Amino acid sequence: MEFSIKSGVPQTGANGCVVAGVFETRRLSGAAAALDRAARGYLSKVVRRGDMQGKLGATLLLHDVPGATGRVLLVGLGREGEFHDKQYRDAVAAAVAALHRTGAEEASLHLTELPVGRRDAQWKVAHAVAVAGASAYRFTRMKSKGEDDRPALRRVALAVDRAAHKGAAAGLEQGLAVTHGVALARDLGNLPPNVCTPSHLADEARELSRRYRMKLTVLGREDMERLGMRTLLSVAQGSAEPPRFITLEYRGGPANQKPVALVGKGITFDTGGISIKPAADMDEMKFDMCGAAAVLGTLKAAGEMRLPVNLVGAIPSTENMPGGRATRPGDIVKSLSGQTVEILNTDAEGRLILCDALTYVERFRPAAVIDIATLTGACVIALGHVATGLFANDEALAREVAVAGEEACDRVWRMPLWEDYQEQLKSNFADFANIGGRPAGAVTAACFLARFARKYKWAHLDIAGTAWKSGKEKGATGRPVPLLTQFLVNRAGRT
Ligand code: BES
Ligand code: MN
Ligand code: ZN
Repeated sequence: MEFSIKSGVPQTGANGCVVAGVFETRRLSGAAAALDRAARGYLSKVVRRGDMQGKLGATLLLHDVPGATGRVLLVGLGREGEFHDKQYRDAVAAAVAALHRTGAEEASLHLTELPVGRRDAQWKVAHAVAVAGASAYRFTRMKSKGEDDRPALRRVALAVDRAAHKGAAAGLEQGLAVTHGVALARDLGNLPPNVCTPSHLADEARELSRRYRMKLTVLGREDMERLGMRTLLSVAQGSAEPPRFITLEYRGGPANQKPVALVGKGITFDTGGISIKPAADMDEMKFDMCGAAAVLGTLKAAGEMRLPVNLVGAIPSTENMPGGRATRPGDIVKSLSGQTVEILNTDAEGRLILCDALTYVERFRPAAVIDIATLTGACVIALGHVATGLFANDEALAREVAVAGEEACDRVWRMPLWEDYQEQLKSNFADFANIGGRPAGAVTAACFLARFARKYKWAHLDIAGTAWKSGKEKGATGRPVPLLTQFLVNRAGRT
């Protein structure tokens, strides 16, 4: 789909569609009123009849509207006083879904002209593009026959005030970058675990390094042994599939600027290991590399926008399998940091690969480190599928991440990291254990990581509830690529 920015009267060619909003009081938006004037009151008549009452997300497609060349799509906006971020995005999504059901090849979208709280044209355009882009996403790569539900819609013009063209252009660029970053993250998440292996993630990173001039380093089993990444290797040792430790360095900012490091959990399949998981829904553990996918998706978005920031992406990646060589519950291993860990449950493997990665990124002297992980089922119990769990050892960084999440409509909720919880990780035999029991499982997992993140400002995002959907719409969501991209855009503007 191609997007452009336009100003002026709502109109399209004969095979197009003008999209305009109607509020719940049946009040026509500016663009709808303009169409109505050209049609000598035809739209107000339709609305008065009750066929479009303005309920949020309702749509009504009209043909042969007097004075209009193409079709007209009316979209319900709900109550005018309640038209905020979510309502705006829902209205755009409903409009694009309705457009996909028509044969229209081009559309002139006027929802971008509506006031949405204090959001400017840049925000409205970025979100319209991202919502439309996401709705056109299909994962058909593994189907033997192509599906022919491809929408006819090719071109979408977004209407904004002429004075706002510059901001709108920036919004368009960001919206596209987020769309492409999210699509990459979703593709990697949706690929089956026999295809999306640690080596496949490394190949994907290589592709990015070529396309956006990033420095790539890929470590294999022996390299990790030499370095002393034994907690990572303890997870990998049960698997025949070779593990990879991937780093990508993007230098878009001033040479002396400390980088932001993004660390993504890359378990390409989590059986639980010897502490094996029950069979039901185990296929969903192919999504256990969604943190890694989010790092790659965000780097793609940053590269595409040529963001003036320095970035490091670090991805520890392996499968977690049972077997004759696999780690046993009770094994004690020494991490790259020198701290020893008693592995009481081999299913708490995410923290074991992340802790070595957190120590490894110290070498980049990062300004901030954010790790992204489908870390705990407990986080799903705490926050469901709405908010990502946020943990941080620095107040300002926590606020910065939360604000970016609000702006990106990819929200997080702060969770505690208090010392009091550290007690649950006590071990009689090693420095500490890798599990902290049932209470506050998401918090004790974060507390485990905190012991490896003492040397820098650090935030941890537990995306177990937000990285994918189950059921009929099973699939990766691409979260939190929108949040992370916004975080970097904000940082880029700060320097
Ligand atoms: N990848 C899982 C977390 C997970 C589980 C995400 C279900 C989404 C849905 C992680 O490796 C794991 O197995 N965590 C355990 C930790 C426990 C053994 C302390 C969990 O959450 O049960
Ligand atoms: Mn696990
Ligand atoms: Zn896992």
